[in-house]
Amino acid sequence: MSGFKPPIPLRAWTPEAWAEAAVQDPEGLLSDHAHNEKKATLSALSLVHAFSGEDRIPVLLSRLAEEEANHFRRVLEALQRFGWKLRPDRGSRYAQALMAAKDGRKAGAEPLLDRLLIGSLIEARSCERLWLLEKAARSHASLGGAEWLDFLLELERCEAGHALTYLRIAEERFGDAVPARLDWWLDREAEVVRELPWRSAVH
Ligand SMILES: [Fe+2]
Ligand SMILES: [Fe+2]
Repeated sequence: MSGFKPPIPLRAWTPEAWAEAAVQDPEGLLSDHAHNEKKATLSALSLVHAFSGEDRIPVLLSRLAEEEANHFRRVLEALQRFGWKLRPDRGSRYAQALMAAKDGRKAGAEPLLDRLLIGSLIEARSCERLWLLEKAARSHASLGGAEWLDFLLELERCEAGHALTYLRIAEERFGDAVPARLDWWLDREAEVVRELPWRSAVH
């Protein structure tokens, strides 16, 4: 896709028509994204226990969780500002499909390595879709306004940083095992993106 460079080398692109469809239901989109930010906070925090006894990685994960919690608050505030409501969590079929691939993993795979790589992939995919949304939102008054566009850009930049943080943590813990497993996951993630129907959600 021209103009976008993912933080990790994703192998499938979301069609630009997805963003045009997504901005037709901005309330649903934002509400769903609030839930994504909440889940991103919780999954960063839940990974800390796997690194007890280490000094640096828990700090990285807590910083990541803090940023996601900040995004969560700001997406909720944006909903409030637009006069929209947080809807019930519809769940993410994208994340569920990745988890199903993890549970069907080939023998010998490391569950912790898979969690870190899935984290990196989800962040990288968010980054791609936020980039598409930011482009589409420029032409839609309902999601327009410089403040909102700046926020989408900031989210995109942060999610790219998170994708790399998860990957670096994986490399630090699992070293030479990472490239082959990442290669496997990049193919699985591309399959999921090609197979799932679109809806008004970042995932
Ligand atoms: Fe975020
Ligand atoms: Fe993130």
